[in-house]
Amino acid sequence: MRQNKICQSLTFALLLLSCINCTPDTVSISLKISELDYLIIPTKYGSSQCEVNLLPLIDYCSNVITQPANNCGATLIGENSFVGGKQYIAKFQLGKVETNLNFTNPDVKSSFYREKALCFGEIFNPSQDNVVEELYQQGIIKEQKFYVQVNSTNATLGVIGSIEIGSPNLSLIKRGSKLVNLKHYSQNSAYSTPSNRSLKYGKLPLNYGDLVTFDLLSPYIKIGIFAVNSIIQQLQEEGIGYQYHYGTINEDYLFNVDSIEKLQNISLNVIAQDETPFTITIKPQDYTRKLQNGKYQVLLYPLMYNIQINLGYSILQSYYVGFDLATQSYIITEKSEINVDQF
Ligand SMILES: *[C@@H]1O[C@H](CO)[C@@H](O)[C@H](O)[C@H]1NC(C)=O
Ligand SMILES: *[C@@H]1O[C@H](CO)[C@@H](O)[C@H](O)[C@H]1NC(C)=O
Ligand SMILES: *[C@@H]1O[C@H](CO)[C@@H](O)[C@H](O)[C@H]1NC(C)=O
Ligand SMILES: *[C@@H]1O[C@H](CO)[C@@H](O)[C@H](O)[C@H]1NC(C)=O
Ligand SMILES: *[C@@H]1O[C@H](CO)[C@@H](O)[C@H](O)[C@H]1NC(C)=O
Ligand SMILES: *[C@@H]1O[C@H](CO)[C@@H](O)[C@H](O)[C@H]1NC(C)=O
Repeated sequence: MRQNKICQSLTFALLLLSCINCTPDTVSISLKISELDYLIIPTKYGSSQCEVNLLPLIDYCSNVITQPANNCGATLIGENSFVGGKQYIAKFQLGKVETNLNFTNPDVKSSFYREKALCFGEIFNPSQDNVVEELYQQGIIKEQKFYVQVNSTNATLGVIGSIEIGSPNLSLIKRGSKLVNLKHYSQNSAYSTPSNRSLKYGKLPLNYGDLVTFDLLSPYIKIGIFAVNSIIQQLQEEGIGYQYHYGTINEDYLFNVDSIEKLQNISLNVIAQDETPFTITIKPQDYTRKLQNGKYQVLLYPLMYNIQINLGYSILQSYYVGFDLATQSYIITEKSEINVDQF
């Protein structure tokens, strides 16, 4: 009996000890929106704590910072043949975690020249530096996965979202929802998932979309031009005031509506690993943005020659989306509604 008590206390003490020692297995980083509408990671690096805004890249990438690294107190460790440039190691502040990361200062001739980015994309070359892999190698995270959410597309609000590297923040998941592993689109090596051409505007079928990707560098939902034209025709038929002018996104492209009250949900099905469909519903509040003049910008952009649907980060207001580095596939769930942006 007494021995049992001692045993219990010992076990308890051990549990307590192991928990004091246990490292957090999530690195949570804040996100802001840049002037060009990219999601950016504000961080500090090197012994001089140089401030820098890094793009979260999920395609062809490596950790790169185009700015003199020796001034920031980073340590030169060689050359990087993948990027083309000098290779450094430095301490980075990633949320509450301070950790070493490798990165390259790209040469003028490098295709990465001018870029400042952390790489979250596929690894196919041993010289690539990838933040997820480097945190995993150092034992800071236990799974090579990361999860992204935003609560606004209003750049002036400052911090509008987060990336959780390692494991998801469970309190961001809507009650009763669970994380769903999506299928990887087999003909595409990068992060992607198949869709079954079930794209709809309200009840209007648009019969479009075989391949779906998530985009962290744009808030726009990009779909085929015929699908955009069908939506515009529907706006006309319903007497909703709009302005539309085709151009490039950061220059003369214009798609505004006077009011979002009569706009419909946009929906599509993506395919889970168990072959069941997962319906993504994009509400008017999520695919529009209120302008200074009281009108609403519509965050839809037409693709000319494509079968692809590119879901910009505006949808991360309603969905919490994970990326699995090893399989280049997505994980998705509905977001809890506590943080939803209000109009
Ligand atoms: C940085 O690169 C060196 C050489 O490739 C490697 O030994 C080291 O583990 C890397 N450090 C981190 C933090 O990934
Ligand atoms: C998880 O999300 C909740 C709700 O946004 C937030 O209050 C909490 O700080 C987050 N936890 C971590 C570890 O980031
Ligand atoms: C796509 O999947 C949904 C859900 O199973 C189904 O209702 C719809 O008919 C499918 N669409 C096409 C075009 O196969
Ligand atoms: C749009 O989608 C939301 C969220 O799924 C739902 O609550 C709402 O009823 C839908 N609106 C319409 C008009 O179907
Ligand atoms: C964006 O946020 C700023 C600062 O809070 C606010 O003044 C502005 O009205 C917001 N813009 C929109 C379109 O909600
Ligand atoms: C938006 O999200 C960020 C990061 O997750 C958080 O710090 C902020 O408080 C949230 N804002 C609102 C209005 O929920």
